[in-house]
Amino acid sequence: QAADDYQQMERASKFFAYQLRNHKKSAEVVDYLKGRGLSGEVVKQFQIGYAPDGWDDLLKSLAKDQGSREQLVDLKLVNRNDNGRYYDFFRDRVMFPIRDRRGRVVGFGGRILAGDGPKYLNSPETRIFHKGRELYGFYEVKQAHRNLEQVVIVEGYMDVVALAQAGIDFAVASLGTATTTEQLQMLFRATKRVTCCYDGDRAGRDAAWRALENALPLLTDGLELNFLFLPDGEDPDSLVRQEGAEAFTARLAKAQSFTQYFFNHLTESLDLTTDGGRAALLSQARPLIEKVASDYYREELLQELARLLRREVSQVASQVKQKPQHA
Ligand code: CTP
Ligand code: MN
Ligand code: MN
Ligand code: MN
Ligand code: MN
Repeated sequence: QAADDYQQMERASKFFAYQLRNHKKSAEVVDYLKGRGLSGEVVKQFQIGYAPDGWDDLLKSLAKDQGSREQLVDLKLVNRNDNGRYYDFFRDRVMFPIRDRRGRVVGFGGRILAGDGPKYLNSPETRIFHKGRELYGFYEVKQAHRNLEQVVIVEGYMDVVALAQAGIDFAVASLGTATTTEQLQMLFRATKRVTCCYDGDRAGRDAAWRALENALPLLTDGLELNFLFLPDGEDPDSLVRQEGAEAFTARLAKAQSFTQYFFNHLTESLDLTTDGGRAALLSQARPLIEKVASDYYREELLQELARLLRREVSQVASQVKQKPQHA
């Protein structure tokens, strides 16, 4: 069954890619992608496609019998309404196939071209698709690099694709959710340096802090986590198109280290010239530092904390629990 699920997802992806070239709305969709700065080559590389605006084009093309129709329902490519009628889940959308680390299509993101409705529709969880465990673009990044020096995590499909278009071919996206511990773990198995670069808005800044919290138990000695914050209203796609790859790469090189961001964030609304402000910093930093896996980073965080609290490092360290020793 499972092997057949992957085959069916791949067929769906090929169907969408074919429609992008051959559907009667093809010119319009291709214009949309060109308007977003994408070349045919990158569109091909990511197998970007188009889900037709009819009700059941995919269904008609892929469902050969009752069994394969139910399979499409299970894979959430097809819905069944209350009247027992079957119809395509994705209609009139630009389609981004999501591949697992082995390159198998496990889900899709679909962007609306124009008009009303949610901007993106994503495959719901299925027996082969678990959002928190996949990273859009990860397979493509690994294909492009034998030695992966660094990975950038962004929010959106278009961010990954636009960066690749600009030659920055080491970005992945965490599928519209907060970056999970599992996703960070996958990345740190593949590279030593990860930079989080979310949208320059409230949601993006919140996502950055959650990623930092999720990363603390994973950051062993030698791993590097950085944060690049973008100007208000920009995302990696808009910025790289505006500024070009060189400027974006320069920003990446100047990203904040996680320890810098850690204290910048925690002290943002505190007045450290007061006892109250310093006490608040200590109580907020302590449980987080206790989660840090790396001796090196614990030490660095403790030193900076002591400096901000105007205390001796040894005194601050004595208030932070030692990490549990391995047997
Ligand atoms: N997202 C989603 N559902 C939405 C909006 C967003 O799942 N209704 C997810 C998508 O994965 C999207 C990401 O969150 O790529 C980032 O959202 P947003 O910044 O709003 O979209 P962009 O990726 O910037 O989309 P675009 O540039 O195409 O407008
Ligand atoms: Mn490269
Ligand atoms: Mn956003
Ligand atoms: Mn965005
Ligand atoms: Mn965008």
